[in-house]
Amino acid sequence: MSNGTDQILEPFTLPQTLLLGTATAATQIEGGNIDHSWARWARAGRTVDGSQTSPADDHWNRVDEDAAILVELGCRIYRMSVEWARIEPEPGVFDGEVLAHYRREIETLKAAGIEPLLTLHHFTNPLWFEDSGGWLRKDAPAIFERFARHVVEALADIVSDWVVINEPNVFALNGYLLAEWPPGHSKLGEYLKCARNMIRAHKRCYLMIHRIRNGLGFSGTMVGSAIHFRVFDPAGKGLLDLFASSAFAYLFHHAFVEGIVRGRFTLPLKRPHRREFPRMPGKLWSDFVGVNYYSRELIRFGLGGELLVGKRVLVPGVPRNDLGWEIYPEGLERVAGSVYRKYNLPVYVTENGTCDREDRFRTRYLYEHLAAVKRIIEAGVDLRRYYHWTLLDNFEWSEGVSARFGLVEVDFATQERRIRPSGRFFARVANDRGVTADCLSEFRSQLHHRGVHDATTTD
Ligand code: FCB
Repeated sequence: MSNGTDQILEPFTLPQTLLLGTATAATQIEGGNIDHSWARWARAGRTVDGSQTSPADDHWNRVDEDAAILVELGCRIYRMSVEWARIEPEPGVFDGEVLAHYRREIETLKAAGIEPLLTLHHFTNPLWFEDSGGWLRKDAPAIFERFARHVVEALADIVSDWVVINEPNVFALNGYLLAEWPPGHSKLGEYLKCARNMIRAHKRCYLMIHRIRNGLGFSGTMVGSAIHFRVFDPAGKGLLDLFASSAFAYLFHHAFVEGIVRGRFTLPLKRPHRREFPRMPGKLWSDFVGVNYYSRELIRFGLGGELLVGKRVLVPGVPRNDLGWEIYPEGLERVAGSVYRKYNLPVYVTENGTCDREDRFRTRYLYEHLAAVKRIIEAGVDLRRYYHWTLLDNFEWSEGVSARFGLVEVDFATQERRIRPSGRFFARVANDRGVTADCLSEFRSQLHHRGVHDATTTD
């Protein structure tokens, strides 16, 4: 059931300083028979619809076609990732042809006027790494840095903007506490160790990328990581729910952002990475904060629940996406505002989007979240970039290919791409630098629906 609304939508302009684009991840779009953690997980039947990581969008063989779509969508920026298992198929063995492929892809983008933001780790590990202990290995940060250094050395002259790790918080939670993602473990100690090692890896790469780019005489380098932020509100008025929702926020995102920005990970109650890094009082370890924002959750206190202190409960009667996630644009304002006030660093919205197979409410989602972006900037937040998740329907991790987040619809059997009406709306907004009155009337019917109301659960 869809929720129509007759609310009058106003035109708005976006600040000239804001750049718009889309975000993707290598594993989700490239396809190919690669020995990595997600390919094995999918082969073991762990995706809800049985889908595999290949062919996905066969993007590896369709770089030019997809770059042309980015141009058609009016993207000036594009966030993409590289596949570690392709680049380093065996420990210490680096595939120059794969790096050359990524270099050609980035050159193609730049020639089309699209500035890349390159993610070095987006959830997926080579099996040799995973099976030797993965992110629990004491030397995991050094091993990851060795891989990252090869990528940076190959691309430093054409890539200035880097995301070291995508959502270390989601990776650690799903892989090491909730057992929902590879490697499928459920141990608090492992979760903490993984988190700590990812933050160490972030810090090492932060220094390494700056060192290499500075050495080559380049300035303007921007290095950060992307954290998945949710708004956690208390389910009831009592103090216990307030405590539980604050604890969720701390454990889920604050502890991680504190690690990647201030370089200290406070959770395991251990001294922060003392011997590994020189003492640099006041130093920040990020040049921007990458905010991945999708939704809000209400939290009810309960000992032993998810994240140990409570559980997520549904808010009735709010618009949701196909996966049951509440659509809550104000959350983006709350998150971006609080991150900026706390760290005073530029904010990049490194992901924001929705799962909408029928493309019934994605246009309205875009309208409302971009309007929120405008308000955020007007409130004084240095928000420079908005990357919509995502360009193409893709392999959506556990949800497989049936969860559709793309501005572009993909038929996975034929690999045919078709820009959705919401994609046309995005292009129009990007080209007009805002939502004009004409655009509102042209997309009137698409802007009508705010989401679905009959989803059952978020967990
Ligand atoms: C984020 C992931 C991204 C995609 C979106 C829907 O948590 O970073 O790869 O799965 O969610």
